[in-house]
Amino acid sequence: MKEKGTFYVTTPIYYPNDIPHIGHAYTTLAADVLARWNKLNGKQVFFLTGTDEHGKKMEETAKKVGKKPKEFVDELIPQFKSAWEKLNIKYDKFIRTTDKSHENVVQEMLQKCFDNGDIYLGEYAGLYCVGCEAYYTEKDLLEGNICPIHKKSVEKIKEASYFFKLSKYQDKLLKFYKENPNFILPKERANFIINRVKEEGLKDLSISRTTFNWGIPLPFDKKHVCYVWFDALFNYYSATTEKSQENFWPANVHLIGKDIIWFHTVYWPAFLMSTGIELPKSVFAHGWWTFDKEKISKSVGKVINVDQLISIAGVDSARYFLFRNTAFGQDGDFSETSLIERHNNELANKLGNLVSRVSALAEKYELTKTENKLLKKLSLGEIQDNFNNYEFDKALNNIFTFIDICNEYVQSTKPWETGDKKILYELADSLKAIAILLSPIIPETSEKISKVFNFEITYDEIDKPLKISKIVKAPILFNKIELPDLEKVSPQKEPAQKINKPSIPGIMTMSEVQYSDWEKIQLVVGQIEKVEDLEGADKLYKLQVNIGDEVRTVCAGIKKHYSKEDLQWRKVILFKNLTPRKLKGVESKGMLLAAISKDESKVVLISPSADIEVGSIIR
Ligand code: MSP
Repeated sequence: MKEKGTFYVTTPIYYPNDIPHIGHAYTTLAADVLARWNKLNGKQVFFLTGTDEHGKKMEETAKKVGKKPKEFVDELIPQFKSAWEKLNIKYDKFIRTTDKSHENVVQEMLQKCFDNGDIYLGEYAGLYCVGCEAYYTEKDLLEGNICPIHKKSVEKIKEASYFFKLSKYQDKLLKFYKENPNFILPKERANFIINRVKEEGLKDLSISRTTFNWGIPLPFDKKHVCYVWFDALFNYYSATTEKSQENFWPANVHLIGKDIIWFHTVYWPAFLMSTGIELPKSVFAHGWWTFDKEKISKSVGKVINVDQLISIAGVDSARYFLFRNTAFGQDGDFSETSLIERHNNELANKLGNLVSRVSALAEKYELTKTENKLLKKLSLGEIQDNFNNYEFDKALNNIFTFIDICNEYVQSTKPWETGDKKILYELADSLKAIAILLSPIIPETSEKISKVFNFEITYDEIDKPLKISKIVKAPILFNKIELPDLEKVSPQKEPAQKINKPSIPGIMTMSEVQYSDWEKIQLVVGQIEKVEDLEGADKLYKLQVNIGDEVRTVCAGIKKHYSKEDLQWRKVILFKNLTPRKLKGVESKGMLLAAISKDESKVVLISPSADIEVGSIIR
């Protein structure tokens, strides 16, 4: 498919009777990232998501609320569509298994399998979990025949059922896995599947039910409805049977969670082999998000729904966090604190500040075209491989390494002193590359940056020199966020590692911190260059503190303890990377270290015991 320049990516189709949460969002966002990345690279992209609407559980839930199943599911779909819209997910098609066109394709496929002898009538007796829509073997259940996922008793069901001859495909599948080592991704997951197929062997699969009606009738026996997985899996194919999507089959990748890998890498290819349809190129199974190290589950109240996820630090920060924090494929534990820390330290401090400084200086001094030598330090080839290999965390790491290089370049060349238009051009041109590469992950932010520096978001633009245009200082991209009141997401969350709130504004009081917290703290020697009163504040001074590479405004509550003359030119220790706070309308960036007597009557600023240059680091 790649040769044709098309890219087809799918998400699982979700059961609509759940509120869209971080687990659903994760797969759908990953598909959005891949879709945007491939579009950026000029591919014709088809991105499919949707809902899995048939089955006993849906029928029963609808009945409980006094609705017809179709009426019931119709009402649930908008919450999925709106969740994807809120997350800035741009899918091309939203398929529903109740779409007539899908139902027709499923019936056609059932008939094909029946005609070629792969479907036969038998009797099924088994332990069925309504929640999972699946039969279990005893060994997979908890003691007392309890479903390990829903923690409820499974039901003993015996019924006439049509079977699909899965056993017939065991050797064919093993051969296929061998010949297509990229079919099951990440590759570590392949061995598990291959061994299970070899060791357990494949039994024929029951694919129809007579115990409920809410499903697609089998074309050759209308008393039976199709078992949900045959129906559900074919959505990927049926979505491409419309004229406009014909080119896209086979899919490049089905993105799924690791819990449904068996269905996608054993049943699905076997169904396709039986119908003679080409197999998808790959199935990528990502890890699971936990919350408090426990499975996310509605029944135990451990859920982060899409609205909560967005409310913490905005859409782009949520998207960034999910792909930066955990390698795609691995399990991750969700923490609101880490999300905010990444928002503050990486998006606001590193990216936001770079955009703000460069755009402000470009507005003031303008740009002059020059060769961008800085751009050579960007690992473009690696980033490309990272995206193509689903290593989104590594791609972001590489992009942020380059952002660090750009920030260091600003510090070392001091364009605010020199007004060097060529240096500013290199920086603006580098920001173009950064924004383009970040656009699959944080599209809204990239769009804002592109408007400031006037370029188009396409991959080819990375190599084209930025056109000179009138630049106006960028709006603030990421406002810093105070570490949260952790009750917001769930009352059961572990407390944040908060830095103690100072009792005297602008002065840090010492308290015990984790070693990992301590490592994050940057303390530097500064020199007070200016001391001013702060209107409306009788305890605060507004100080200008030179810390070598910049002069910081710091509001400190030391007026009662020091006169202005006492402070002028005094060397102090500044806690540099503290989230800025507004005090009496002035943004205070950092805190001075001081010793405070127990009754707080005495406050003594800490200074280096011998003279040392400003900007020196405290370790
Ligand atoms: N309807 C089936 C899929 C059929 S696809 C042909 C289904 N639906 S689901 O709504 O239960 O789950 C859909 C996806 O959400 C699965 O890929 C599952 O892995 C994912 N997640 C649900 N909770 C999750 C986490 N806590 N973390 C990551 N993904 C998780 O299964």
